[in-house]
Amino acid sequence: MKIEEYLSTLPQSILSGEEIQIPPDTIREICKFADLGQNDTFYHLGSGNGTSLKIARQEFNVKNAIGIDNSEKMISLAKKMINEENISNIKVIEQDVRKAEFKDADVILCWFMDAEVLESLVEKFQKLKNGVRIITIWGPLPGCLPEKVDFPYILNKTPFNQTDDLKKQLLAVFETECIGFVTAWEYAERYTKSIGRDNPENDRFLVIIQALTIWINAKNLGVACGEEIPDSIRSYIAILREYFGIEVEHLLK
Ligand SMILES: C[S@@+](CC[C@H](N)C(=O)[O-])C[C@H]1O[C@@H](n2cnc3c(N)ncnc32)[C@H](O)[C@@H]1O
Repeated sequence: MKIEEYLSTLPQSILSGEEIQIPPDTIREICKFADLGQNDTFYHLGSGNGTSLKIARQEFNVKNAIGIDNSEKMISLAKKMINEENISNIKVIEQDVRKAEFKDADVILCWFMDAEVLESLVEKFQKLKNGVRIITIWGPLPGCLPEKVDFPYILNKTPFNQTDDLKKQLLAVFETECIGFVTAWEYAERYTKSIGRDNPENDRFLVIIQALTIWINAKNLGVACGEEIPDSIRSYIAILREYFGIEVEHLLK
């Protein structure tokens, strides 16, 4: 079946990512990457159970940590954790991030794939003071060239360096002249390691899907290395088809 059909068989909660929480060690890596410190007011948009806020306050000593999430369940879990641990200068707000205010932010972490949410956030980010560090995971903010990348972590800084050129964005994220199989695989592994669940079988499947997605997008944008489809890409397309019954070749333009 085509990958689009496969995705439509998954539960909505998996597709929306609403139950996905960033693992604590990944949060620590992100805090280091953002150079988070005592002068920063830190916001996490889609803060889930509040682990990032706790780590930012307790381990990186930020001035304030504020979480915004539209899930009542997640907000009550975060509030429980904050009360139990008696942490000061930390707050969670139950709200849709599209309606939220974060004018005092110095650092913002947000991990959304939903294009509509991202676009409305970019509009809000553009009105913030200069020098605000906005961390995204996997992709940069739409229309922005990143300031710094340690894939899958991407730092965008206000005022944004804007571009409509997807090729430029892709090459900035992958820090390379062209994308070959090795780059696609390495970056897919890094992403899976940072958000994966330490389940080798699932992780392998995820890496294959991610690597093929990266390479096919690069090819369609004209930034894959060489004209030919590499043998390794052909093999993984065949593995997906034969072992998992998932077809991706039609995505190639
Ligand atoms: C991985 S993040 C975001 C996933 C997101 N749905 C996406 O587009 O990838 C998960 C957290 O974001 C929260 N969330 C999702 N959409 C939101 C929104 N519009 N406003 C606030 N929080 C949101 C979820 O409740 C969850 O705790």
